[in-house]
Amino acid sequence: LEEVVDKIQPLMNQKSLQFECNLPAKLPELHLDKDKVVATMVNLLGNAAKYTPEGGRIALKVKTAQNKLQIDVEDNGVGIAEHELSKVFDKFFRSEDPRVLEETGSGLGLSLAREVIRLHGGDIHVSSEIDKGSTFSIILPMNGG
Ligand SMILES: Nc1ncnc2c1ncn2[C@@H]1O[C@H](COP(=O)(O)OP(=O)(O)OP(=O)(O)O)[C@@H](O)[C@H]1O
Ligand SMILES: [Mg+2]
Repeated sequence: LEEVVDKIQPLMNQKSLQFECNLPAKLPELHLDKDKVVATMVNLLGNAAKYTPEGGRIALKVKTAQNKLQIDVEDNGVGIAEHELSKVFDKFFRSEDPRVLEETGSGLGLSLAREVIRLHGGDIHVSSEIDKGSTFSIILPMNGG
């Protein structure tokens, strides 16, 4: 988690985004492909930074409950229209929103993120409201694996 924060902090500073981190002091040992999960989290935070206007707020929240680790990446950026919500994890999907299209991207980040998390026996979800912001949540099983 420290590695994730170190990697993404410069991007947050560059766009004057307020970056709030809520990490538990202690976590049980997790058996996972660290590089891939770190890349996935950096990816979600990168999206949050990309699709949130300057001066916005991004939060990384990590919590544990019932043998599950939940990682939430919240932003108060452009948000996602309801009719696009079910498509954001599809390969090559990009929104029609001009605020999205003015940023560069190939629409691959989230499909890869979902693949990595599912290979770990977990899943990833999104909740979002247009013009309000988005929350991406990763759920990972914690007992062995
Ligand atoms: N935090 C977010 N806020 C608003 N829209 C988002 C957010 N994250 C993803 N999206 C929407 O989902 C689409 C797919 O995201 P994804 O990360 O797969 O692709 P990308 O960011 O466009 O390109 P890439 O990650 O390949 O560089 C984005 O183009 C955007 O429309
Ligand atoms: Mg992306």
